[in-house]
Amino acid sequence: MSKLNSVMGICVPKKRSSLTRREKILARVIILLLGVSVATVCWRAGRAQTPNNRDEERRGPERNENAVDEKIERHAGRMLEQGRETFRYDTFGDEDFWGNTLQLHRAIEGVRFGGVGPGVSPNTALAVGLKVDVDALPQSLVQRIKQGKVNLDDPATTLALIKLNSVLGIQGQFNPDSSLRSIGITCALCHSTVDNSLTSGVGRRLDGWANRDLNVGAIVSLAPDLSAVTNLLGVDEATVKKVLGAWGPGHFDAELFMDGQGFRPDGKTAATLIPPAFGLAGVNLHTSTGWGSVTHWNAFVANLEMHGKGTFYDPRLNDPSKFPVAARAGFADVRNTPDLITSKLPALQFYQLALPAPRPPDGSFDRAAAARGESLFNGQAGCAVCHVPPLFTEPGWNMHTPAEVGIDDFQARRSPDEHYRTTPLKGVWSHQTGGFYHDGRFATLLDVVSHYNEFKHLGLTDPQKRDLVEYLKSL
Ligand code: HEC
Ligand code: HEC
Repeated sequence: MSKLNSVMGICVPKKRSSLTRREKILARVIILLLGVSVATVCWRAGRAQTPNNRDEERRGPERNENAVDEKIERHAGRMLEQGRETFRYDTFGDEDFWGNTLQLHRAIEGVRFGGVGPGVSPNTALAVGLKVDVDALPQSLVQRIKQGKVNLDDPATTLALIKLNSVLGIQGQFNPDSSLRSIGITCALCHSTVDNSLTSGVGRRLDGWANRDLNVGAIVSLAPDLSAVTNLLGVDEATVKKVLGAWGPGHFDAELFMDGQGFRPDGKTAATLIPPAFGLAGVNLHTSTGWGSVTHWNAFVANLEMHGKGTFYDPRLNDPSKFPVAARAGFADVRNTPDLITSKLPALQFYQLALPAPRPPDGSFDRAAAARGESLFNGQAGCAVCHVPPLFTEPGWNMHTPAEVGIDDFQARRSPDEHYRTTPLKGVWSHQTGGFYHDGRFATLLDVVSHYNEFKHLGLTDPQKRDLVEYLKSL
């Protein structure tokens, strides 16, 4: 019995020799049972602490649900990571277009590195709105930039920055001698910027923010060989350069490759503003003219604008009178083998919907005025009828005729539905450069409010208009 005691580690009172045989057997049985139950408790406690066995230990519907919840959370985490990678770094094989066809990489490296022309220095790159991710730079380089010791006029520095994968939305492929073999673009080119934490144009990534400094037209114009674009549009190079030159910073024309219209009837560029890609969860239709859902548009852009290699189907483009270029080029039904886009669409959409609209910085608006503006927005000014808080667009079919918002129908008629989409307004403070409405026709928020005031006969006084503007800045 003492042997058993020591094995179990249990102290029992020292037995008295006067016990009967029956009593002794009973005591042994009790001690044995005690020992077994202690061992079981210890064993279960040990198992419960190891995470792998936790699911088995749980019983009952509530606990099973938790196990499923964990799986969903792990899945969501993976989707987020994959989507971020795709958004920032995936070219979907579009190097074939931007590099091999347009030869843009040769203009970037310049004649000194085997390309053409003077090359693109970091200062030139920053001037056309390209941004540099400070987190991709080694600490020593950050220090040297801070001390002004990096030559920002040398295209060699641009090549080094591309090689470090630090230029937002630009992916370089390099030859063994460090010259560029090709380049491709990613979503991050137009839909992210940086916080300028190191210097203007160099800082931490802000995914989803509209890059309103980016001059896409000027960048594409640098291409040594624009024949792919002239062939597609059926015009000469001078015309293509005139169209690209008219875009200006923050603009791009996603419909140019569909209908070939470079200019509006009034002679202004047909390009539209680059919108933010954050704050879109809960919003039904996307782009200023509501082409489709987020994932429709992602597939559209990846295949037809970036010229990646995937699959895209949208029979609405098979309309030779409305979309002559797209109909000619067969954009309504695109197939590529291998398909480098389709498998990335789920995570890309997931990531985009996860991007929150940024909150306005402290002190960037007048709180009291914004509170008064909120009442106007929801009441007298009637804004909330369409911009329904907290989505700030309509739950449901968020589309309106041009007449309903008091503007011309040029851009609406370049889309299948011929309507304008109610813009979700969250984070509107972050993209005030370049103006408002799809083409930036209103330079300031006050201009937007004044437009509604006149067009809808709202009878707002000047102080009321200013309150409304402060509210818009607070969203
Ligand atoms: C060359 C610049 C450029 C690139 C690259 C680009 N976009 Fe866009 N994006 C635009 C422009 C311009 C629009 C507005 C089009 C319109 O309203 O007709 C837009 C619209 C959008 C919208 C709609 C936003 C809204 O308010 O509904 C989403 C979503 C989007 N892009 C996602 C992407 C994704 C994902 C990628 C990469 C696969 C990408 N974009 C690549 C310029 C770009
Ligand atoms: C009939 C529905 C409707 C009403 C009412 C309405 N809006 Fe809009 N709003 C729209 C549509 C549609 C657009 C997109 C127009 C475009 O892009 O050309 C828009 C665009 C905007 C924009 C531009 C956002 C950007 O990023 O460019 C602002 C700001 C805005 N509205 C504020 C307001 C305010 C303030 C009111 C009330 C005075 C108001 N809206 C009333 C439908 C409406």
